[in-house]
Amino acid sequence: MFYQPEKEPHGLPHSPLKACVAPRPIGWIASVNKDGQANLAPYSFFQMLNDRPPVVMFSSIGDKDSISNCRATGEFVYNIVPKSLTDQMNASSINAPSGVDEFEFAGLTKVKCELIGVPRVKESPIAFECKVHQIIDVSSNHEGMPVTAVIGLVVGVHIDDAVITNGIVDTNLIQPLSRLGYMEYAAVEEVFSLNRPVWED
Ligand SMILES: Cc1cc2nc3c(=O)[nH]c(=O)nc-3n(C[C@H](O)[C@H](O)[C@H](O)COP(=O)(O)O)c2cc1C
Repeated sequence: MFYQPEKEPHGLPHSPLKACVAPRPIGWIASVNKDGQANLAPYSFFQMLNDRPPVVMFSSIGDKDSISNCRATGEFVYNIVPKSLTDQMNASSINAPSGVDEFEFAGLTKVKCELIGVPRVKESPIAFECKVHQIIDVSSNHEGMPVTAVIGLVVGVHIDDAVITNGIVDTNLIQPLSRLGYMEYAAVEEVFSLNRPVWED
């Protein structure tokens, strides 16, 4: 099949689009408002854009709390979502009124960061402390809601020693959760290594 998303219907019962870019990592984004109240929400429009310097990005449909908090403070935390925290991640996606602390709602523990004023998720084995680098007005969606991307510079990296095996972050132990299309998720349960080919004249 072929369709043009802006011009014609796809003819399927549900939009296939998000299933076409899968799996997508879930950025579990912590932030605080100008009064210091904590906020936590999952974003699957999330990616690492570069490693030196380390840069991450998440994108929001609608001006959600995570976006207004990033605008207000210039800081956020990326937490990884291990499969074991699926229910807590899902709970934190609740559409709660501004000022509700989703750490508390989801039964998670806040830990102070080293360099920024945003807490991280204690139960998550990996967290990046981020400073907002750029906020981009990407577009507006089909309902006229703003689509906004936040690009962050990673200034601090937390890795739980328990997930380091022989000097390597052990993805088998973390089993990171990812988002597919529809209401589908996947966890990483098979890891293999592959070296890039070397051109020989
Ligand atoms: C797995 C998952 C991924 C999500 N990804 C996004 C996303 O990429 N962009 C978005 O706008 N909302 C996304 N949502 C919905 C937000 O998490 C939800 O609207 C949340 O209430 C936003 O919280 P906030 O207002 O505290 O930022 C996602 C929800 C789930 C469960």
